[in-house]
Amino acid sequence: MDSLPVPAARLAGPQPPAGVELAGYVVAAAVWAPSVHNTQPWWFSASGHGISLHADAGRQLPVADPRGREMMISCGAALFTARLALRSLGYVPETSVLPDPAQPLLVARLSWRQRVAATGFEQRLFTQVPLRRTHRGGFDPLPLAPEFLTALQEGARRDGAVLHVITDEGHRAALAAVTETAEYALRADGMYARELAGWAPPPGSARRDGVPHTAYPARGERTFPHFADRDFAHGRGWGTARPSLAVPRSPGVVCLLATAGDRPADWVNAGQALQRALLTSATCGVAAALHSQPLERARLREFIRTHLSDGSHPQLVLRLGTVIQTAVSVRRPPASVLFASGGEHLRIGQG
Ligand SMILES: Cc1cc2nc3c(=O)[nH]c(=O)nc-3n(C[C@H](O)[C@H](O)[C@H](O)COP(=O)(O)O)c2cc1C
Repeated sequence: MDSLPVPAARLAGPQPPAGVELAGYVVAAAVWAPSVHNTQPWWFSASGHGISLHADAGRQLPVADPRGREMMISCGAALFTARLALRSLGYVPETSVLPDPAQPLLVARLSWRQRVAATGFEQRLFTQVPLRRTHRGGFDPLPLAPEFLTALQEGARRDGAVLHVITDEGHRAALAAVTETAEYALRADGMYARELAGWAPPPGSARRDGVPHTAYPARGERTFPHFADRDFAHGRGWGTARPSLAVPRSPGVVCLLATAGDRPADWVNAGQALQRALLTSATCGVAAALHSQPLERARLREFIRTHLSDGSHPQLVLRLGTVIQTAVSVRRPPASVLFASGGEHLRIGQG
């Protein structure tokens, strides 16, 4: 977080803080959640008693994500982060996901009454919120401990999702091939390419959303099997320089995050599970590369569901591994996405 608007020590003290102060702290953390193309498709409203998280349909990707699935996954990641921020202060979050069928963009309501001190693990997760970065490219050829992967799978289950670790060589190769097929189909789709270009600002841009050139390599790194990266630079040579390697790098441990159902509540769950897995990995020095290209093509998604995901609905492809990371990302200031319940901007950042 650039800086938290209110010192945590004051909010964690015995006196309950004003709801507005607490909301400022929670939102300053939540904005660091991952989101598709860094669209940050959320806004928050706060009252004295709680915080509501809303999906911002104006930031949905109409071409790549017409159903809003990836928007809801992104909001789910923000929800997990908001809950973790409350836990970091010793509050027990009470969460109601998609509480009002008449308001499908109201993702969740969060409130807090009880206090129980945060565990060391929760504090460690929370410190990773602003530090974790999406990786793009290959990994060092180091195995990850089976206990670590089991812990990630248990974490995903707690959020109502499944993390499939794809160990079968044939299945890994098939998933890589489907990802590459999707990537090239998307590149050939003019409407998709224009939409992606709108979320890939040029070097020197002052924008606080979209994927900046500091977040991806100028030349996509080969892995074996090869998982194609998104083409953020679109042939313009943007991106950071990395030494070119003669041999392909490891794709890392390949996983599929999936859910039993495929409704908005499942997507929010997948987002919560995603952020839990990313932060847990970050506490262990493990980075993640994300691929959603094959899940943006209905037929390829269905192929993955029936052949690689045991019939569960695939929500995101993750590759996990160790690597020295240099990626730098951006976020909109928390004050620009936090409103009073009546609709006014809340004045935060004065603490
Ligand atoms: C639903 C979803 C889909 C994503 N798909 C991709 C993807 O296909 N390729 C990629 O490089 N990153 C993908 N990302 C990662 C975002 O680009 C990343 O979270 C965003 O740029 C912010 O950067 P950060 O995670 O480093 O903070 C995805 C993230 C989410 C939540």
